Order: sequence, then C-alpha cells, then structure tokens
Amino acid sequence: MDRRARVRQLWFPNNMPARLFLSSGDLMADRRFEFARDLQLKGDLPAAADLLMQAIELAPNFTSAWFTLAGIREELGEHEAAIEAYQKAQASDSGDRHGAGLRLMRLGAEPVAGMPQAYVQTLFDQYAPRFEASLVDDLGYRGPALLFKAVLSVRSAARKPAFFKHAIDLGCGTGLAAATFAKEVDEIIGIDLSPGMIEQARATGLYAALEVADMVEGLRHRPESSADFILAADAMVYVPDLAPVLGEAARVLARGGLLAFTVETHGGDGVIIGGGLRYAHGAGHVRERIEAAGLALLHFEEASPRTEHHQPVRGLVAVAGKT
Ligand SMILES: C[S@@+](CC[C@H](N)C(=O)[O-])C[C@H]1O[C@@H](n2cnc3c(N)ncnc32)[C@H](O)[C@@H]1O
Repeated sequence: MDRRARVRQLWFPNNMPARLFLSSGDLMADRRFEFARDLQLKGDLPAAADLLMQAIELAPNFTSAWFTLAGIREELGEHEAAIEAYQKAQASDSGDRHGAGLRLMRLGAEPVAGMPQAYVQTLFDQYAPRFEASLVDDLGYRGPALLFKAVLSVRSAARKPAFFKHAIDLGCGTGLAAATFAKEVDEIIGIDLSPGMIEQARATGLYAALEVADMVEGLRHRPESSADFILAADAMVYVPDLAPVLGEAARVLARGGLLAFTVETHGGDGVIIGGGLRYAHGAGHVRERIEAAGLALLHFEEASPRTEHHQPVRGLVAVAGKT
C-alpha cells in the first residue's frame, strides 16, 4: 500500500473493515473530509455532501472524498450524480482501491467485469486480522463445512476414501478450509491475492506452500495432472468469469481428482453483482462452465455459505471430477 494510504481501523455494523482512506495530500481537504464523515455517520447526508464538495474543490483528485460523496448521492437517490462521483473516484486512483468500478457495475453504469486486483488485495489485507472472528462468529460462515460434507458424500457414493495427496486451496484466506480438510489431505498448497491473508494462513502451519497470486496465475505454472484435489471456499465470489479458473483446474487435476467450490447465486441467468458487492452466478451458468471445462458435475446443491443483514445468502456448492 502506498504511503498516502492510511487505513482506519474502525468497524462498521456489517462487520466489514473500515473504509480505506487515501489522503488528498492537502491538510485542509483531509480535515473537511473528516468533518464530512462525522456528519455522514450522524445521518446529516446533505451537509456531509456539501463538505465533501468543499474538500474536492481544494483537492480535485481526492479519491476518498469522491467515493464517499458517491455513496451519499446513492443513498439520497441521486443516481446520475452518484455515477458521476464514482467515475471521478475511479479515474483518480489507477488501482481503484475503493472499488468504485464495482459500484458502477452494480448501478448498471458499466458492464459486469473483473474486480481490480488492488481492490481485492486492499479489502482483504484490511480484513485479515479480524477475518475469522467477523466471518465465522458474526456471519455464520460455513463455506469449508459445506465443501467438506459435499466431498465426503461424493467419495462415499464412489466407494472411495476421501483422502487426497496433493491439494490446492484457491483463495485460501486465513486457512479455514485447510483446517477443515487437514485430516483428509497429505499436503495442501494455498494461493491467495492478499498478502495479509497469506500471512494469517502461514501462521496456521497447515500449508506446505503459500503463494500470493491470482488463482488462475497460481494454477497456470503448476504441472498438468499434479493435484488430486482443488478447492475454493467463498473465493469464486470474486471471480466473474469462471471459465479461465475452471479450465486451469481441469488441466492441473489428475484423473479421478476433484474440484470443489462454493459460489453465491441468484434466481436468474449469468453473473450479476450481488448486494454484498460480490458476484452471484446463476446455477445454469455454473453448470455450463463446469461442462465446458471438460469436468463432470458430481454434486450440485443450493446451500447458504453465510448470513448477511440477518438473512441467509443464497449459494451453490459444486463438486466436479476429472474423468
Ligand atoms: C471470503 S475469503 C475466503 C477465504 C477462505 N477460502 C475461507 O474459506 O475462509 C475470499 C478470499 O479469496 C481471495 N481472492 C479473491 N479473489 C482472488 C483471486 N482472483 N485469486 C486469488 N485469491 C483471491 C481473497 O483475497 C480472500 O482471501
């Protein structure tokens, strides 16, 4: 993270980490931003918006002010003004660490596309120290447990032991899935975009190797047929197009090997941005992508991986095999 990036460790009711703050480099503008945030938190949105505009006048490329202003405009129902402010936030930070592009996709102002890597890294680097308490304790996260149950049932139906020699955990995070499968795998490798999450995973001592990388890139340099189990718990929710990762997984899996993953889903077709700013994949789309990768779908069920705003989030659990 560059020196301008200052992360405030405030926590918000939805248990996500505090918003990223990128200083404008202008003390007066930063102060106005802070007052605006206070007003925003007190619920005085019009006054907060006025102050943010003043901050932006002092520092026209003040990304955090544009991003915050956009959120306020959205809350006030000012659709066009929100879009314009998100566009300014996006244009003023080449890495788009606030994820303004994602908000533009959700507002329908941009087609659904990939998330900027810098955004995912920043999000999870901030989240890493509190990830497990927040996700497991507060949001009832059960991605690894759902995968465990599904994999056991697939293996039991095939009358094969659920034991794997070489496993790869895509988007491994802090290592919750490795802990769940620890007795079922000989050796597990973790791949994750966020150095902060990888650091937490390393501390578990469960991984034979860990790599900071995009999951597709991480798979790409692995030899063909070198793994018998690949899993991704709650990680494909950050991937809009499953084709590249499923294609690479199919190549890296040995015959008889399994790929198990969760996604969030919705009632329609294709991929959308869900309310939680993660991708939701339609069931038909997931099936089609698995088949297109040349894998056989062995288990497919609807199951919720977590709760959000006291509601179960809709999800799918898929286990596919290389035949
Ligand atoms: C919600 S966490 C889940 C972590 C872990 N699998 C678990 O079940 O606790 C999602 C993880 O996916 C990682 N991630 C997101 N997009 C990724 C990508 N394209 N390549 C690798 N890791 C990614 C994030 O950094 C984050 O650690």
